[in-house]
Amino acid sequence: MAINPPVDATKTPAWAALQHHFNDLQDKGIDLREWFADDPERTEKLSFEAGDLHFDLSKNLITPETLGLLAQLGREVRLDERIEQMFNGVHINNTEDRAVLHTALRRPAQEEGSLIVDGQDVVKDVRETLGRMYDFADKVRSGQWTGVTGKKIQTVVNIGIGGSDLGPVMAYEALKPYADAGISARYISNIDPNDLAEKTRDLDPETTLFIIVSKTFTTLETLTNAREARTWLLESLSAKGVLDGSEAGRAEAIRRHFIAVSTALDKVQAFGIDPANVFGFWNWVGGRYSVDSAVGISLAITIGPEGFEDFLKGFHEIDEYYRKTPFERNVVALMGLLNVWYVNFFGAHSHAVLPYDQYLHRFPAYLQQLTMESNGKSVRWDGTPVTSLTGEIFWGEPGTNGQHAFYQLIHQGTRLIPADFIAFANTPNPAKDGDQDVHELFLANFFAQTKALAFGKTADEVRAEGTDEAIVPARVFTGNRPTTSIFGDELTPYALGELIALYEHITLTEGTVWGIDSFDQWGVELGKKLAKEITPAISRDDQALAEQDQSTRSLIEFYRAHR
Ligand code: F6P
Repeated sequence: MAINPPVDATKTPAWAALQHHFNDLQDKGIDLREWFADDPERTEKLSFEAGDLHFDLSKNLITPETLGLLAQLGREVRLDERIEQMFNGVHINNTEDRAVLHTALRRPAQEEGSLIVDGQDVVKDVRETLGRMYDFADKVRSGQWTGVTGKKIQTVVNIGIGGSDLGPVMAYEALKPYADAGISARYISNIDPNDLAEKTRDLDPETTLFIIVSKTFTTLETLTNAREARTWLLESLSAKGVLDGSEAGRAEAIRRHFIAVSTALDKVQAFGIDPANVFGFWNWVGGRYSVDSAVGISLAITIGPEGFEDFLKGFHEIDEYYRKTPFERNVVALMGLLNVWYVNFFGAHSHAVLPYDQYLHRFPAYLQQLTMESNGKSVRWDGTPVTSLTGEIFWGEPGTNGQHAFYQLIHQGTRLIPADFIAFANTPNPAKDGDQDVHELFLANFFAQTKALAFGKTADEVRAEGTDEAIVPARVFTGNRPTTSIFGDELTPYALGELIALYEHITLTEGTVWGIDSFDQWGVELGKKLAKEITPAISRDDQALAEQDQSTRSLIEFYRAHR
């Protein structure tokens, strides 16, 4: 089914109405203190529940009218049509002529109706692969699957990059309290040999299982690291005197210590991995949307199949909510539209994501690929130039660490930085400092920061504290710095699935307004190609060196002189 050209959002009546509304707010003055004082129900009106997450949008630079207009924009750019096309397997990734079906990865088997896309029974295939993955995970967890010397696996090492790394490592770190089988995970991604060296240094090869994750099985970093890991395994087993040195012995060691996740089964087999231990996925799963496919097998092994199923249920809960809730009350769609409000009307360049949960410390890094590889584009899906700014920079660190680093700029800098604050009411590690519950001390910061950002501190309030007049300006907080608070019960596999699906759909929402194919990533190709071409010039090929531009040539010459 052919897709319609994108609607130019900037030409819609809703966009014009939003511009008018924006000008009006500017003229009257944006003042969260006043807006809260004038409307005792503001928070109630601007709070939402989705799944078991609670969202407070009231500290954003919006009125209830803004949300109505944003919802109207969603309708006018036919966001509902694009959502349906995604869920139904239409090739909305049209530059690669592919369906975009990460939502099918978490569709329960028992849900009514099958989903046949391009002749494939998608849900059946997903459940079959999950079944194989769970069987394997159970075997590793129980010790039925052992290394070549019969020892139980204690460490799984995921080798992948981009979507084949960031999702799994983020989720493993987030769900560490659920890793209950005495198996830990490590993640190697960088082609910089330091990464592999540090992550293997203290490992016992007899109890290590490598998982090579690459959708294409052609990625330079992953294949280089996989070969290095294979060499490390064979050499360190030999050094321990547990390999007999025969070709068959080496092949058996690789078979017991390497598995793979890929769509390219032939290439995996050529590497020496037993096809029985290869877990597939499909070209309709983008790398950055793949943590809930077999790409997450390190998670299934460490937290177990039950935990992984809960993770999938959390995603599905938000999928259903996003698909079925009218935009006016659909906080998932509204958060995407709100980002458009800040980027295109307020001129925001970036968006901070600040988890008040140390277990989510890799979440901002994960979101950077999800959002920026998806929407960092200048052309629309019909090849025409975009008609507005796109693709804000996502960044962040867990609180409270960030408070002592970059929050200064969010509080008092000259740039508007909308921020999402994420926290959970319960912690798996309760602690007391004397009588003080430490988690409550932590949460006090979560509450305080959004309050300070919204309401600031006036010059009079500063003066009333007896501050020297000369220092008053430096101590004023203007307030009116927008935040969204996302609050959950506990960071469970289910809640993590919900959070990831939330941001996946925020990304689609923004991409649809901008007319972007959020599922290709042509922008990463040129650098990869040039690295391949430059490699010979670095140490061997003088002719290739001479062909470089002057700056690149000079840098390589510096390297040659200093190596
Ligand atoms: O950086 C480009 C990219 O294609 C990402 O989109 C992807 O997640 C990553 O490389 C890894 O690709 P693969 O899983 O094929 O090794």
